[in-house]
Amino acid sequence: MSNKIEVRNFSFFYGSFQALHDLNLDIQANQITALIGPSGCGKSTFLRSLNRMNDAIPGAHAKGEALLDGKNIYAPDVDVAELRQRIGMVFQRPNPFPQSVYDNVAFGPRVLGKPKKGDLDQLVTESLQNAALWEEVKDRLRDSALELNPGQQQRLCIARAIAIKPEVILMDEPCSALDPVATLSVEDLMRRLAETYTIVIVTHNMQQAARASHYTGFFWLGKLVEFNRTNELFGRPKDPLTESYISGRRG
Ligand SMILES: Nc1ncnc2c1ncn2[C@@H]1O[C@H](COP(=O)(O)OP(=O)(O)O)[C@@H](O)[C@H]1O
Ligand SMILES: [Mg+2]
Repeated sequence: MSNKIEVRNFSFFYGSFQALHDLNLDIQANQITALIGPSGCGKSTFLRSLNRMNDAIPGAHAKGEALLDGKNIYAPDVDVAELRQRIGMVFQRPNPFPQSVYDNVAFGPRVLGKPKKGDLDQLVTESLQNAALWEEVKDRLRDSALELNPGQQQRLCIARAIAIKPEVILMDEPCSALDPVATLSVEDLMRRLAETYTIVIVTHNMQQAARASHYTGFFWLGKLVEFNRTNELFGRPKDPLTESYISGRRG
């Protein structure tokens, strides 16, 4: 096991409002880390702060450190575009571009000015295969992505994210707009992706965290109350707040 991301005394502010308080956790490489907790407790803020998606918000600032392979994500010399290439993101609502299936997946590699046509075809195929979508769309590559069903659209967004070969994939409630069958197929996919990538997923679905993740962090009012192996956190919670939340008495 090795730490892909080490979070050290990390706090985050929107102007004078402190959204995250002194977080400390290690995110293991090639594992799925789930973040749970009630709405408004800072899960999305934390996730977005890992690839500096909050940078554009006026007054938003971080304190402490979040180290990616030992280097602070907030160091002044970090190239944010490169950071976002290394740490990709999948959002709550599937958000394919209004373009073809192919062009959605080719988007990132084209922006990065990468491959020639043949290589690009190969990369699109591989990304769709790795996102467990290829069989369903191989005859529909020129169709609009908006014609796919929501579960397919979310896997397309995952294919789009992995086409730029990230190291970490952040997923913010990626299944909340999906039906149970599509949800299970995305969870299945996540497990396979963890062989190659480090995955951090926000979910308000505790069953999903328990089923799909290796590590779980429980957030409450901007604090990380408990962080542990998933089976420990759900089976033997140490903090009474965790215990009452996972047994459904709070949140
Ligand atoms: N852009 C923003 N500006 C100011 N406050 C924000 C912003 N985004 C989120 N917040 C606040 O930060 C806190 C955490 O929000 P968020 O990270 O979205 O929580 P969660 O994802 O757990 O629901 C909430 O109090 C929310 O109102
Ligand atoms: Mg959120």
